[in-house]
Amino acid sequence: KEIFLKDYRPLDFEIESVDLTFELDPSETLVTNRMKFVRKTDQSQLKLDGEHLVLVSIEKDGKILDQEDFYLTETDLTLNCPEQQFELVVKTRINPEANTRLEGLYRSSGNYCTQCEAEGFRTITYYLDRPDCLSYFTTKIIGDECENKVLLSNGNLIEFGELEGGKHFAVWEDPHKKPCYLFALVAGNLEVVEGHFETKDSRRVDLRLYVQENNLDKCDHAMASLKKSMKWDEERFGLIYDLDVYMVVAVDDFNMGAMENKGLNVFNSKFVLAKPETATDVDFEGIESVIAHEYFHNWTGNRVTCRDWFQLTLKEGLTIFRDQEFTSDMLSPAVKRIEDVKRLRSFQFPEDAGPMSHPIQPQSYIEMNNFYTMTVYEKGAEVVRLYQTLLGRDGFRKGMDLYFDRFDGQAVTVEDFRNAMADANQRDLSQMHHWYIQPGTPKVTVTKQYDAGNKTLSLSFKQTLNGKQEHLPLLIPVVFDVLSPSNEAALSFSLSEVDQSRCSRADNGWLFELTKHDESLVLQGVEEEGYLSLFRGFSAPILLDYACTQDELVALASYDSDSFVRWESIQTLALMNLIENVQAVEDNREMVLSEYYAKALESNLADTSLDLALKSLAITLPDESYLQEALSDKGMLINTDSILAVYGYMKQTIAEKFESSLLAIYQQMQSSEAYRYDKDAIAHRMLKNRCLNYLSKLPAQQDWMQTQFDQQSNMTDVFAALEAMKPYDSVWKKANLADFYHKWNHDDLVLDKWFALQASDQSDSALDLVKSLVEHADFHYTNPNRARSVLGVFGRMNMKGFHHASGEGYAFLASEVLKLDKINPQVAARIVSPFTQWKRYDVARQEKMKSQLTKLIESGSLSKDVYEIVSKSLK
Ligand code: ARG
Ligand code: ZN
Repeated sequence: KEIFLKDYRPLDFEIESVDLTFELDPSETLVTNRMKFVRKTDQSQLKLDGEHLVLVSIEKDGKILDQEDFYLTETDLTLNCPEQQFELVVKTRINPEANTRLEGLYRSSGNYCTQCEAEGFRTITYYLDRPDCLSYFTTKIIGDECENKVLLSNGNLIEFGELEGGKHFAVWEDPHKKPCYLFALVAGNLEVVEGHFETKDSRRVDLRLYVQENNLDKCDHAMASLKKSMKWDEERFGLIYDLDVYMVVAVDDFNMGAMENKGLNVFNSKFVLAKPETATDVDFEGIESVIAHEYFHNWTGNRVTCRDWFQLTLKEGLTIFRDQEFTSDMLSPAVKRIEDVKRLRSFQFPEDAGPMSHPIQPQSYIEMNNFYTMTVYEKGAEVVRLYQTLLGRDGFRKGMDLYFDRFDGQAVTVEDFRNAMADANQRDLSQMHHWYIQPGTPKVTVTKQYDAGNKTLSLSFKQTLNGKQEHLPLLIPVVFDVLSPSNEAALSFSLSEVDQSRCSRADNGWLFELTKHDESLVLQGVEEEGYLSLFRGFSAPILLDYACTQDELVALASYDSDSFVRWESIQTLALMNLIENVQAVEDNREMVLSEYYAKALESNLADTSLDLALKSLAITLPDESYLQEALSDKGMLINTDSILAVYGYMKQTIAEKFESSLLAIYQQMQSSEAYRYDKDAIAHRMLKNRCLNYLSKLPAQQDWMQTQFDQQSNMTDVFAALEAMKPYDSVWKKANLADFYHKWNHDDLVLDKWFALQASDQSDSALDLVKSLVEHADFHYTNPNRARSVLGVFGRMNMKGFHHASGEGYAFLASEVLKLDKINPQVAARIVSPFTQWKRYDVARQEKMKSQLTKLIESGSLSKDVYEIVSKSLK
């Protein structure tokens, strides 16, 4: 069944308060749910959501209802309620132990926990399971004392005590109204790490991290991250925490990253636990940003929530934007921006060009969980960033302030957010709506024309969407500058009076507001034909089509003061070179390393003033998925064998050509200091390991991998050494992997890395290796992290195995999806997603991928999660 945004209707009933009692039992938990209802319209039929429930009894205003008083289906319970106000008590029985979907109440490593977003609460009890139903929650938890030392729920603990039969109980009261997707319950034998934070209005907040005992030594980083987040939100947005306690629980089995339940976040343990020996820099950064993300949701998501699930980007796009800004302040703004753009291009652009393409505000869905996407999250964050680019930081802050003034405690829409931004700045932002309702990545074509006689530089801009100009035109901020080819400085120019209203000074250049399909801008008094530095800081989530010369790109790649454009220019040179080589392979010509790209690499390698992390990014080839994206954009079908050949050649050639500088930098970056998590130390490791990766291609330099692996100094370096070994089919690689397994098989998160490494193996035996992984004693379909480490990584990052010309990779993954779908549909739906891109590949591969999709559909037993993706892919 498909749900549509246009069908939204306000609630007929409100639930004033909910009083829940859980009598915990691994297989027979009894839930008693006492709700006070108020009828709001003259509709008297009340339909409550409920799935996977055993109904024990319903009572209205003290009277037990008979079978004929209500109507029960697999998905809901309907009853007639003509009263203005009434109370319902619904008792249900659920089986947490058998819940492998990990939605609702389930068990993970012997502990009870919940995941209710988006629609998991209805698997706990009958309820109006929609985000605009806000209510006051009180939760009583009764459990066996030996097995459940801690009993947690949202809000404040108001009562606890002993009961007979070895049981005890706790009562939690949440003073803030909330939708049920923010409900949480946790119980079990967990240990706690405590900290505290003093708010700027001098209140003390207790911070508690709950983990399993063996993980107590891995909590420092998460705790520090939480404190930094709380402080940052006070400073940047004036937002203060609103309860006396903030709890975070780490669980091993979790479908997503983490969940912002009010006062009681539940996290995938991957985003809590870290120490230098077990976690890489990327893991540390992930923890810092996910802790921040969930914390920031307390205001953007919880205090102001969504009216319906079509508004998901209201909280997610905004909260991702906020966590991006946070990370940018904690580490390096330039590096963070580039990393986010890479992520968007590698994962969101393909999504938006494929069969699951949807606007950041989807207009319909079959399974809501399928819409927790890169588009809603990452592109949504880019759209929020557009407001900040248009209004400036201060203007954006004014808009945020007004948003909270107007909507605190309410469930609202993306229009409400936009109106707050507009009204706080006295601006008409109605055109921004077009970003919310149209799918696809816009393309902006820019051309320039210099008139030396009149000293004018005319810039013309054209926007298209999905190859056409039939779309509602988007408001696109173009941040740019014009640089002198002779001395790197920005050229000065003036603008006509009309143009001044469309183009103004910005912090990092000029801001031109493109609002029409076609528009041009004339810069006057320009002394020479300059180089264009366009979309500085990636000022809009678009594809840029600008035919500039390679000389211009080399210049921008060597000295543009905007680090994004500088990086982008070298990426563009690399991309042109990669595409040329793909064509060369297909036409049986020799591949080359382009002299322009080589020149840009050389100047970046030699630039001693360049930030080390930026240097590392500059010498990194574009991701394979970005190349695929570019090839598809050119209308070319992808032959993965050519892509593999091209990357092999490029890495090898760059390594050979720059051997001495790569080696010199590699050695310079060595450090004997203990691991530190800070911008500088991270940049050193990043550059060092990039150099190692190139050096590993050269027979004379191969020993560095082993030396670095043997040092075992921290997981970042150990893992980088193993990564560099991936292409080799050798005895020593196997020995190192065996060693690693032996050392770490007691630690699930490290073991996930061991699995992921092999699932993305690039040797000739990649496919067989992956098939053996699912037979390994430590592989479990029931653990999402493990399933993703093998099957998710295989589909997304193992071009050699997944796209094996025999089609065996496809057959393998499809059959694994079927197995997993029976256990956990949400995870299966993520793992099937590489198949959605089938139309991009060469004809032979297309057919093989498509036939697997057809087989999946014909199995006839798909969950709606997997069904939605597979059926849309075949349309
Ligand atoms: N709201 C969570 C976050 O982004 C994501 C939870 C989504 N879970 C799900 N099963 N759809 O922080
Ligand atoms: Zn979120």
